[in-house]
Amino acid sequence: MNDVQTPMESRWKRRFLILLLVIVAIPAILVAWLAIRFGGDVPVDYDTPVEHFKYGSTGGEHEMGFPYWIWRVLPDVCPQYLPGKGYQSLGMVYERNADGSDRALPIGTSQRRYQGIDRVFVNCAVCHTSTVRTAAGQPSTIVLGMPAATFNMKGFEEFFFRCAADPKFAKEYILPEIERQGGELDLLDRYLVYPLAIAIMRDRVLALAGRFQWVFDQHEWGPGRVDTFNSAKVIFNFPMAHLDPREFDAPADFPSLWRQRQRKEPREMQLHWDGNNTTVEERNKSAAFGTGTTPPTIDLARIARVEAWIMDVTPPAFGQFFPIDEKLAASGAPIYQEYCAACHGASGSDFSGEYVGQVTPLVEIGTDRRRLDSYTHTLAVNQATLYAGYPWRFTHFQKTHGYANLPLDGLWLRAPYLHNGSVPSLRALLEPAASRPTAFYRGNDVYDPVQVGFVSDQAEAGGRHFFRFDTALPGNANVGHEGKPYGTELSAAEKTALLEFLKTF
Ligand code: HEC
Ligand code: HEC
Repeated sequence: MNDVQTPMESRWKRRFLILLLVIVAIPAILVAWLAIRFGGDVPVDYDTPVEHFKYGSTGGEHEMGFPYWIWRVLPDVCPQYLPGKGYQSLGMVYERNADGSDRALPIGTSQRRYQGIDRVFVNCAVCHTSTVRTAAGQPSTIVLGMPAATFNMKGFEEFFFRCAADPKFAKEYILPEIERQGGELDLLDRYLVYPLAIAIMRDRVLALAGRFQWVFDQHEWGPGRVDTFNSAKVIFNFPMAHLDPREFDAPADFPSLWRQRQRKEPREMQLHWDGNNTTVEERNKSAAFGTGTTPPTIDLARIARVEAWIMDVTPPAFGQFFPIDEKLAASGAPIYQEYCAACHGASGSDFSGEYVGQVTPLVEIGTDRRRLDSYTHTLAVNQATLYAGYPWRFTHFQKTHGYANLPLDGLWLRAPYLHNGSVPSLRALLEPAASRPTAFYRGNDVYDPVQVGFVSDQAEAGGRHFFRFDTALPGNANVGHEGKPYGTELSAAEKTALLEFLKTF
């Protein structure tokens, strides 16, 4: 028998093995490396629910995410499209690092590594967190869950569209700026990934620009507001130009999101300004669209973390910032019980009341009707088909005919008031519409404890320019919520007492 290899045979065998290595193993390693480099889907996670709320992902980076370094440098590539320096000038809130410098990303943005590139997008906190100061020159306190009263959402959207359309949105300008700001891109990022990402992002944003034209065409929302449901129509790719013009210009104030459990138990309230949904979970998923997610990309596990946290989170007390006259407040309590409690709950923490969470018809409440009209029956039908095939399909959206009687927890931080943010202070809301300010400024985080609302009579302060809110514009009417049941006919002394009581909410 001959099982001894000849030298010739063993040489061939060796060559064959080397060939095999070249043909199979090296590409396999390359593929594995590419898979590691460009595969994967890893969000930056945070230990505590609070940090997760501020910086955690809801999934929006998948489709909408900005490559991290593009996000970082754009304010310096296109400064002409911002009202001031950086995203701060759009009212985004930055926390400080231990060394006193600003954190790289503002509150309300999250980060995820996806397809080989770090991406940034917004999360719930961008519209549901802001700051308050007891006086100009005092440090500001960040309050999670309060309406993002300083954040200019329309300015934010327009900034990206304008910058992407600018000739400077090109690798020749963006890459050197990344380098200047200390972004140490590796060779692959520098010569392949980022140039490609810039080109793709430019194309995508410009392709979307037509759909977002309606945003440019609307009058300014100002900080703290977004046209909620016309934005939803854009997501559904409605032909906006063919819609009834009375549906447009329907900006809504950002609401607070404390104490969600009490909006669900013991009974489900009608949620959103017009009460068009009764389930907290559906509302949260629909809110996730605001953070750029779509049915296949939504990160349910991470949204669930936010949902769990907002169930029981509570607002900071007015009394921690300013004194309350307890005796005066106590004298306001019975007035509140008589006039307001049935619709708004017994107090800032007890939401019991016969009509709480129900809708008061528009003919009765009489506030601006745009927001109500912007939510149409057709949109409700479309929302029901949106998640078709997914177990979490929307089934609770409905068209209503008024605005919801909402609990007033953390009321002092929810200024300006009403669904369109058309009344700057609680004191003004207790006056009949004819005596409320017809124009005022939004976006200041300095608080006025006398009027009970943010300072609204200054056009600018400390280098910041505030937004002049004109109640004469469509969607901005400051009418309604007036007459006897709404307290506008109380005596001056009764109003002062009621106002003091409302500070305890
Ligand atoms: C683009 C800004 C924006 C983002 C991002 C956003 N929201 Fe909101 N949220 C709003 C606005 C505006 C409303 C009021 C909608 C209306 O009725 O017009 C609202 C309503 C709410 C409410 C209160 C509704 C009520 O009736 O009491 C909760 C709770 C809420 N959102 C949770 C979330 C969660 C959770 C996320 C993240 C998954 C989120 N939001 C992301 C703007 C936003
Ligand atoms: C019949 C029910 C009803 C009564 C009574 C009522 N309200 Fe309201 N209230 C509403 C509705 C509905 C809204 C939302 C209207 C809108 O935004 O267009 C509202 C809105 C408000 C808001 C604005 C909340 C925010 O976050 O902007 C405040 C503050 C308020 N009411 C205070 C009061 C006070 C104080 C009283 C008693 C003097 C009172 N309301 C009586 C139904 C009622």
